[in-house]
Amino acid sequence: MKAQELRAKYLDFFRKKGHAVIPSASLVPANDPTVLFTTAGMHPLVPYLLGEEHPAGSRIASVQKCIRTGDIEEVGDDIHLTFFEMLGNWSLGDYFKEEAIAWSWEFLTAKKYLDIDPRLLSVSCFAGDATMGVGRDDEAAGIWQKLGVLRQRIAFLGVEDNWWGPAGETGPCGPDTEMFYWTGPIQEVPETFDPKDGRWVEIWNDVFMQYNKTTLSTFEPLSQKNVDTGMGLDRMLAAFNGHRSVYDTELFKPMFDVLGKSQEVMSNDEVRKARVILDHVRASVFIIADGVEPSNKDRGYVVRRLLRRSMVHGKLLGLKDHWLEALVGKVITIFDSAYPELVENSQKVFAVIGNEQRQHEQSLETAFTGTLTHVNALVNKSEKVMSGKEAFGLYQTMGIPLELIQEIARSSNIEVDTNGYEAEFEKHQKLSRTASVGKFRGGLADHSDDVIRLHTATHLMNAALRRVLGEHVWQKGSNITKERTRFDFTHSRKLTPDEIKQVESLVNGWIAADLKVKKEIMPLERARSLGAIGVFGEKYPETVSVYSIVDPKSGDVISREFCGGPHVEHAGVIGKFKITKEEAISAGVRRIKAVVGS
Ligand code: ALA
Repeated sequence: MKAQELRAKYLDFFRKKGHAVIPSASLVPANDPTVLFTTAGMHPLVPYLLGEEHPAGSRIASVQKCIRTGDIEEVGDDIHLTFFEMLGNWSLGDYFKEEAIAWSWEFLTAKKYLDIDPRLLSVSCFAGDATMGVGRDDEAAGIWQKLGVLRQRIAFLGVEDNWWGPAGETGPCGPDTEMFYWTGPIQEVPETFDPKDGRWVEIWNDVFMQYNKTTLSTFEPLSQKNVDTGMGLDRMLAAFNGHRSVYDTELFKPMFDVLGKSQEVMSNDEVRKARVILDHVRASVFIIADGVEPSNKDRGYVVRRLLRRSMVHGKLLGLKDHWLEALVGKVITIFDSAYPELVENSQKVFAVIGNEQRQHEQSLETAFTGTLTHVNALVNKSEKVMSGKEAFGLYQTMGIPLELIQEIARSSNIEVDTNGYEAEFEKHQKLSRTASVGKFRGGLADHSDDVIRLHTATHLMNAALRRVLGEHVWQKGSNITKERTRFDFTHSRKLTPDEIKQVESLVNGWIAADLKVKKEIMPLERARSLGAIGVFGEKYPETVSVYSIVDPKSGDVISREFCGGPHVEHAGVIGKFKITKEEAISAGVRRIKAVVGS
C-alpha cells in the first residue's frame, strides 16, 4: 500500500461515518499557545475540544503535519521521527467510546479498508489512577471484547502509557486506548499481549478527552465528551507493508538514493547517521515551508539545530557536493501532491537551507582543521592514542563533536580514549554545576533588590549564551554585586559584537515579555528529569529548589536551574540588560560583566 492510498482510505472511511475532512493546519500552531509546533492533529482543534462550535460540525477528520522533538535522541531507530503525518478523527461532544472503538476496529480489519488479520492486533486500556480520581477503563476493554478481541490481548497500563495530553502545561486530556500491530514473524505471534515486546508497534491511539488540565495541575471535567484519535502514517505504512522500519517505506527510499548507498550495505552506525540526516532534513523542509527561518530563538532554534545536526552527520558520513540540496529536492517531490505548499515555497526553502549550510560549514571547517593539526602533532610524536583529556579539550575549545574527532583521528590511525573523554565530560559537568551552585549561593554580595535583579538577569544570560553560542557553554562561576554581575563560562573564543548583541537582545526580549520566575521545591529525581542544571547526587537532599523561567506563549523552557535564590518574581522589573565587558580569563574560559538599568 502506498502512502497516498492510506491517506485516501482513511479519510474516505471517516467521511462515510459523517466526518467533515479538514486540511492539515500549519506546523506553526494558530490556536494553541501552549506548544511551539503542532505535535498532534488535536492542536488545531483545541478551542473546539474545549466547547466552541466548529464550523464544519461535530465530526472531523484530517491528515495533520506534526513535529515532535521530545524523542530526538531516539531518531534513527526503527520508529522515531521528528516530522510525521497523523491520521485523525474527532468527536467534538458527539460520539464517544462505543463508536470510536468500533470504527477503529472496522477500519483496521474490514476487507474494504486495511483488512488486517485480527490475530495480529492487540490493545491497551487505562488501568486507572487513584491520585487522579479516575478508575480503570473497563468500559473500553468491554467494547474491545465485544468486537472479538481476546482478553489476553488487552493490557491495562497506567498514566505513563494510557493517558494522553496535554503537550503543553494545560489543555484537554483523558484516558486512551491504543492499538498495536504485530511486526514479528507471523508464526511467532504470541497469544498474550506483552506491551514490552518491541515487536508490537503502536499504530493508533483513541483518546477519550473528558478533562481539562488547569495551570494548578487539577483535572476539570470538560463540558463535552470528546474523542481524539491519532495514527502515525509512517508507522502504519511500514507495519502494513511488512517493513522493519519507517525508514524503509517509499517516503524515505528516494532519499536514501541521494546518499548513494542503501541501508542494506551500510553498517549499523552508518544507518543511524543516515536516518538522522533524512529525518532532520525532511522536518526542516516542512518547517521552513510553513514560514519559520533558522534563528537562535524558539522555532527558529529548533530548525537550526535540526539542520546543523544533519550537517555534522553528513560530514561524518563523508557526503559530498550538493547532497543537502538534493535531499531537499527529494522531500519536495515525495510530498508535492499531498502538500502543495512545499512546491509553492520551494525557492525559499532552498535559499534558507543553502544559506544555513554556508554559515555552518565555515565554523565546522575551522574546527576540522584545528583538530587535524592536533592529530598531526600526535603522529609526529609517534603517539597511538589521543587521551580523553585532549579530546575533551578539543570539544570544549572548538565545539567539535567527539564522533568527528574520532573520525579525523582514525584516518591517521590514532585511537581516541572515549572512556577517558566521558570521564572528563562528567567531571567537567560536575565541576561547573558545583561552581554554579556554590557561586549562586556564596556569589551574591547581599540580598538587596539590585543584586536580586542581577541574579535573575544572570540566569537569563546563561540561557541566552547557550542558545547563541551552543550547549558547550557551562557556567564556571559567578559573582554578583549591586553594581554588576560577573559570569565565567566555557567557550574557546572571543564573542563577536554580533553575538554580544544577540545575547543582549534575547535577554532584553525575555525581560520585555515580563516572564514569570517560578520557584518549585521538588524531589531530586523530578528536578533531574526536568533537566534542571545543578549538582545532583549524594551530597544533595532528596528535596531541591529549582528556578524556572518558561515562555507561556510557546511553552518553551527558557531557563531551569537548580538554585537557592532569591530571584525576582517577574523579569519585567529587571530593567535593560547590557554586557559591558567580555574577556578571556584562562584557556577556554570567558568572563562577561553585565549591568541592568535601574
Ligand atoms: N492526540 C493523540 C495522540 O497524539 C491522539 O496520540
